[in-house]
Amino acid sequence: METSALPYRQKEMGKKAWIVTWRKRIKKIKAENESVDDSSFKRESINACRFGYSTSSPPVKHLSLARIEKDGVDKERRSFIKGASVSLAALLLGIASAERFFTPKSRNSAVMSSYPKAILVDARGNPITLAQIPSATTSSASYPIMSFNYPLQDEPNILLRLHGIKIPGPGVIYDGRDSIIALSGICQHLGCTVPLLDYHPHGSIPFEAELIGYTGTNWPEYGLLFCKCHGSQYDPTKGKDNLYNSGPAPSPANHSLPVILLETDSNGFVYANGINPESAVIRGHLWQPDGEVHGSLVESENLSGGTELPFDSELNMYKTIVTSSSNGPWPEG
Ligand code: FES
Repeated sequence: METSALPYRQKEMGKKAWIVTWRKRIKKIKAENESVDDSSFKRESINACRFGYSTSSPPVKHLSLARIEKDGVDKERRSFIKGASVSLAALLLGIASAERFFTPKSRNSAVMSSYPKAILVDARGNPITLAQIPSATTSSASYPIMSFNYPLQDEPNILLRLHGIKIPGPGVIYDGRDSIIALSGICQHLGCTVPLLDYHPHGSIPFEAELIGYTGTNWPEYGLLFCKCHGSQYDPTKGKDNLYNSGPAPSPANHSLPVILLETDSNGFVYANGINPESAVIRGHLWQPDGEVHGSLVESENLSGGTELPFDSELNMYKTIVTSSSNGPWPEG
């Protein structure tokens, strides 16, 4: 391009001669580009001459624009769209890869190699004793929700003490009068957790259970664990076979709530030390292909997808904090 030369050449040639010159140029360019739309061509060529494009080098860029107008195809726009598409694809890929930030890295990889032995403590870290766990009787009108995480940090369980009944199965502490049992607080239907899943003694029928026909006459005397999400019911007095009726939690009874193995010592301290291998697995542990499997597979496959319990170096063991909805029976931190 000779844009800088224009004023000088125009001055040198005089206005008339300059007009003659650029008319000749237009004619020449037109002859070389017969297929180009005439009006666009003229406009571009006039611009070319006005702004000093050389005749020997036609205003290629402007001519190409003229062709673009004729063909209705905007190659620059197409390039832009292509570039934008590539950028969008890259962005989507980025979003897809961001998914890994929301998926626990530990999923499908073991967090712990076996069930830990964990002492049940209050919020201050003091061990809870058997005597501190309140009882539910056949006439109780309320009962606190007591829950603790086990075997991993994000797996709640419900702690119960039922007065005057012996619940069958290993892992249930029977002190000669009451049974103390811990059941998974993750519903076997779709995984609702405490407090949506909680225990209701005989005198405390949840409103949602009344909606499906429960009354004071058919609500069991030791109550039920009831899931308010879709109405699954679990009878704690049945131990590992606690699935109660035809609620949406699927049969057979191996979809009962898993039973956490509890132990006690001479101090009356309480420990969680495994899951009854005859129980169902905690929901989500064996997602597939054999989600109903009991026994040894539970041991080998379940400790993944979560966080390890805290280890107490003073007690030299894992610990799990029991929280109570009643601000007691032990002092909250
Ligand atoms: S999640 Fe508990 S009944 Fe559906």
